[in-house]
Amino acid sequence: MEKNFVIKWLDEIDSTNSEALRHIGELDNLSVIAARNQTAGRGQRGNKWVVEPGANLTFSIVLKFAPGQLKVRDCFCITEAAALAVAGIREAETRIKWPNDIYVRDRKLCGMLIENGSSGDSITYSVVGIGLNVNQTSFDPSLTNPTSLKKLTGKDFDTEAILSEILDNLGSLLPMLETEDGRASLHQTYNGDVLYRKGIKGRYRDNLRDVEFEGIIKGVAENGRLSILNCTEAVEASYAFKELSFFI
Ligand code: BTN
Repeated sequence: MEKNFVIKWLDEIDSTNSEALRHIGELDNLSVIAARNQTAGRGQRGNKWVVEPGANLTFSIVLKFAPGQLKVRDCFCITEAAALAVAGIREAETRIKWPNDIYVRDRKLCGMLIENGSSGDSITYSVVGIGLNVNQTSFDPSLTNPTSLKKLTGKDFDTEAILSEILDNLGSLLPMLETEDGRASLHQTYNGDVLYRKGIKGRYRDNLRDVEFEGIIKGVAENGRLSILNCTEAVEASYAFKELSFFI
């Protein structure tokens, strides 16, 4: 479903998320800040997000919520909608690596940095920052497993067309955030076959106890916690983001 996203393209900015946060008071719902180059792109866990200028998509979508529209306890549905919107692109066979990386087989195509604001028990805004590798073919060796649409297919892509595809996908999903049934259905889709490594044995590290183990992902709870069967200790445990690392 077409929604009224308004895209502002910048040649260069430190970080589209930082830019959106600096202007959050003036920006309308569905504003999108996209940059051809970021000089201080920010990733998860305090990492930098460094990409080749002009080759990829780096953008932030501003979502605004009226008081009471979306409770803080339900905010994982923003992650689910954003991840499903990107995973829905036609150009690659994608999976969502919990919570919001987009993978193709065992390679990372896209990362997200979602920064929410709240007042009381309500979410007031969300800045959904998305870095999707499109036409870049060589990556910094410090990155473990990056890929791009071009690396996967050998073809060049129009970054603006991919951005419109993602926004169209998100536009169709956003109304689901507004009702309990909609959120439940969004969650079911997120928690289905699209979830990377679901039901498959893999190696993980429990960062709280600093132990490695063989595990099988069982699913993700509506609050965003990942449930995993620890095969080494024969127990099921649930983790918040940063408490668990994947070995890939
Ligand atoms: C990750 O570490 O996987 C998250 C990367 C998120 C990068 C995007 S690029 C657009 C937006 N602006 C930023 O500074 N970060 C996000």
